[in-house]
Amino acid sequence: MALVAQGAGYAYAADTRFRVDALREVDFEVVPGELVVVAGTTGSGKSTLLRLLAGLLEPTEGLVSVDGIAPTLRAARGSVALVFQNPETQFFAETVLADVAFGPRNLGSADPHAAAREALTAVGLDPDVFGPRSPFTLSGGEARRVAIAGALAMKAGYLLLDEPTAGLDARGCRDVVDAVVAERDRAGVVVVTHDPEDFLCHADRVVALSAGSVVISVPPSELTHRHAQYESSGLRLPEVVRAQILARQRGAALTGVEFDPRAAGVLLAESLGAPR
Ligand SMILES: Nc1ncnc2c1ncn2[C@@H]1O[C@H](COP(=O)(O)OP(=O)(O)OP(=O)(O)O)[C@@H](O)[C@H]1O
Ligand SMILES: [Mg+2]
Repeated sequence: MALVAQGAGYAYAADTRFRVDALREVDFEVVPGELVVVAGTTGSGKSTLLRLLAGLLEPTEGLVSVDGIAPTLRAARGSVALVFQNPETQFFAETVLADVAFGPRNLGSADPHAAAREALTAVGLDPDVFGPRSPFTLSGGEARRVAIAGALAMKAGYLLLDEPTAGLDARGCRDVVDAVVAERDRAGVVVVTHDPEDFLCHADRVVALSAGSVVISVPPSELTHRHAQYESSGLRLPEVVRAQILARQRGAALTGVEFDPRAAGVLLAESLGAPR
């Protein structure tokens, strides 16, 4: 069981003079129970990778497969859920509840409304308040959360999210991170972001894309050793990690790396001999 890209490449407008080679020879894998963060600068190919993994685009070279079959096949229907980078453009139903219930209904759920209510609650939106609203009247942050709820409600084996926390306030961000991380119990999760700070402490692996190629694929704890390579692809490590790298360079005996500021504070204090 895995969602896999093998030597996958994609060129937009392949046979024209406007050809753009958006991805080149990408090897990627996510298995159920895993959370993978894909980081990369603007235009590095993150959204294109998600479209290939979700079967919305077919690779122009290499292979993509979901549990052994092409995601474009009918048999793969419902196995991959994708939340777009601009999810508000995908709404179509009259109410939020109907929009979120569309996926489970389409997949034959016995109670699509219950699935929709549960998913709205998971992203921190009260279904009694937001369920009857028109999706077209939501604020940007509300719309993003509704779109994420729509994907959660599908209970797909693989959940792909494109910049899920962009534009959310601290509370909304925390709700979405919690809801997405909880999905890992039953799904393989891929989070695309140019700012991976919110998800790094939960990630099993970080994949960095640069100009359409994978330049790093490591557990987050290894980023401190590979920070020069990571930053050479135009990315910047979170400040909390940079502080630990700088402390280590100045002689602090740090036993690991922490992504949460409180835990990092404890680690730094311990390296100075302070009691826990
Ligand atoms: N429909 C399209 N037609 C032609 N070129 C495209 C199309 N969509 C994307 N591209 C190009 O493919 C490359 C990768 O785009 P992609 O959207 O995957 O980047 P991204 O990493 O998601 O960027 P961002 O962080 O800005 O969302 C870019 O050079 C982009 O201009
Ligand atoms: Mg993108």
